[in-house]
Amino acid sequence: MASNSPSHPPSYIAFEGGEGSGKTTQTRLLAARLGAVLTREPGGTPLGGRLRELLLNTEDVALGARAEALMMAADRAQHLEEIVLPALASGQHVVSDRSLYSSMAYQGAGRQLGIDAIASLNDWAIDQRRPDVVVLLTVPTDVSGERLDRSLDRIELAGADFHRRVGDAFVEMAAAEPQRWLVIDGTGSIDEVETRLWSALKPRL
Ligand code: TMP
Repeated sequence: MASNSPSHPPSYIAFEGGEGSGKTTQTRLLAARLGAVLTREPGGTPLGGRLRELLLNTEDVALGARAEALMMAADRAQHLEEIVLPALASGQHVVSDRSLYSSMAYQGAGRQLGIDAIASLNDWAIDQRRPDVVVLLTVPTDVSGERLDRSLDRIELAGADFHRRVGDAFVEMAAAEPQRWLVIDGTGSIDEVETRLWSALKPRL
């Protein structure tokens, strides 16, 4: 359960990584372990659910890179206001499947809009409230490809070069801020990854 003494304020923990990294499974397990609020971007709110549908599954309307970045930021602004900040204020940990760092990687590096520009846009959207801890789950592309057994969405279909830029951006952002990021090897069984992750994360909470 989320038992927080005043000396241990609740943490806002985000998971990042490419598709098929196992982050959705690990966010669920960690949230259950901590008694945390489990949420995600895009799609953590009713508005976000509608935006997610437009962002990922719409084929009959054009959606340019800048519109995509703004819609991700709009989802995030509502998510902070409606889910993350109230949960933290009530003393609960928050575990989120993705955060602004996904926009920096996918829209900033992947779509080549610029990581700094996307960071500024999103810092405005969330009034600078970035996650306290960011977990980057890393897996080689052959493992992530095997784990992706469903049909691919609009962004997953963006191509190998796009996804290489995204992956490189995550690694660079993690290296630049080691006090915020935890890089966890996501290979092996679900239990192995969970144990590895928990032993690295526990001292940060
Ligand atoms: P998910 O399938 O991991 O929930 O993520 C949905 C897709 O949206 C995934 O391909 C990553 C992408 N995405 C962005 O491009 N920018 C963002 O800011 C976020 C949160 C996700």
